[in-house]
Amino acid sequence: MDFEKTIIITGGAGFIGSHVVKLFVKKYPRYKIINLDKLTYAGNLANLKDVENMPNYQFIKADICDYENIKKIISTNNVNGIIHLAAESHVDRSIVDPFTFARTNVMGTLSLLQAARDFWEPTGWSDNCRFYHISTDEVYGALELNRPEGDPSASECGGGPFGDKFFTEDTRYNPHSPYSAAKASSDHFVRAYHDTYGMPTIVTNCSNNYGPFQFPEKLIPLFINNIRHRKPLPVYGKGENVRDWLYVEDHARAIDVIFHKGVIGETYNIGGFNEWKNIDLIKVLIKVTDRLLGRPEGADDDLITYVTDRKGHDMRYAIDSTKLKDELGWEPSLQFEEGIEKTVRWYLDNQDWLDEVTSGDYLKYYERMYSK
Ligand code: NAD
Ligand code: TYD
Repeated sequence: MDFEKTIIITGGAGFIGSHVVKLFVKKYPRYKIINLDKLTYAGNLANLKDVENMPNYQFIKADICDYENIKKIISTNNVNGIIHLAAESHVDRSIVDPFTFARTNVMGTLSLLQAARDFWEPTGWSDNCRFYHISTDEVYGALELNRPEGDPSASECGGGPFGDKFFTEDTRYNPHSPYSAAKASSDHFVRAYHDTYGMPTIVTNCSNNYGPFQFPEKLIPLFINNIRHRKPLPVYGKGENVRDWLYVEDHARAIDVIFHKGVIGETYNIGGFNEWKNIDLIKVLIKVTDRLLGRPEGADDDLITYVTDRKGHDMRYAIDSTKLKDELGWEPSLQFEEGIEKTVRWYLDNQDWLDEVTSGDYLKYYERMYSK
């Protein structure tokens, strides 16, 4: 079959990547979608069951740091689009093991850029080719919490309910964790390839995502699972840190819009103007989970356990996504209440998925299946 485009989506077996792969495979039967993933602990092909037999989907197990192999994959498949999500993504792991983050997020992105350049540049960067790098709001550092009561009407004076500023596309990079430092570095390399070689690149910086298929080391799936099993909920510090939450399918829709309509060389912030103090979010998670499990209200409030704060814990993230709305017409489609309800329900209905990814059995299975 002749395809209109061939797109590599890196990290397509991970949380956000799997939603992007599924959206593209289903929505664009004329595109060939190659999911290129190393299958680290965070990559799980079970996330892609919906599309694994579709004729326009292909999985390739590969490491983005393996420059020669990536170069071969890009040229053999005549790839003209890359949507790059593969990364080490968990801040706590980056604090313990920063080298792995530098290797994958920085060197991996660089080898992918260079491999794409090797294939695309000799033909004069055809109109069709595009390198789209997915990044995080964490590169901007941390905002102040200077409206501690969370007054929603305060946003009329600028900023959000918890602080008087947002991250915009012009905010200076100021990463604090090894994770965000590595992501910041990769963003700089992508822009350098645009500015130096003329590579058609786009960068987006998104706020915290939530939804189905997120690895249960991140706050929301970890806590839903712990509530279900009546295990302690380890709240870092005082639980006052603020995060800006976006439903993962809304992020995938934004990626679709930006991949097709975004202006080359530009950066777009993606977020839903949906800030939550951790402790308030955790109380909502307990309430919704208990309700769906038929437990009395308040039954699990005592699971909240304040623990030593994360080192260098960023106080507040809040994205201003006005540019994306004004220029490309994207807006989040789900209200938070609806998104959280769907998410809790999904994890409660998919205990097998949670058990599998926490047991490590699936890693052994894929090691056998895909070992060279
Ligand atoms: P994830 O950890 O769930 O998935 C990462 C995927 O990348 C996994 O499938 C893993 O196997 C793969 N991978 C890791 N190293 C690789 C390598 N060397 N070669 C090939 N594949 C490799 O991550 P996620 O939460 O889905 O995040 C995806 C991207 O979105 C990341 O770049 C992250 O920085 C960014 N992001 C995430 C969030 C969030 O809230 N999760 C928010 C904004 C931006
Ligand atoms: P996380 O899901 O790890 O995302 P990020 O660090 O990228 O924002 O954490 C979200 C927030 O929840 C963050 O402020 C840290 C906090 N947190 C806890 O309080 N306890 C936990 O066990 C985890 C994993 C996170």
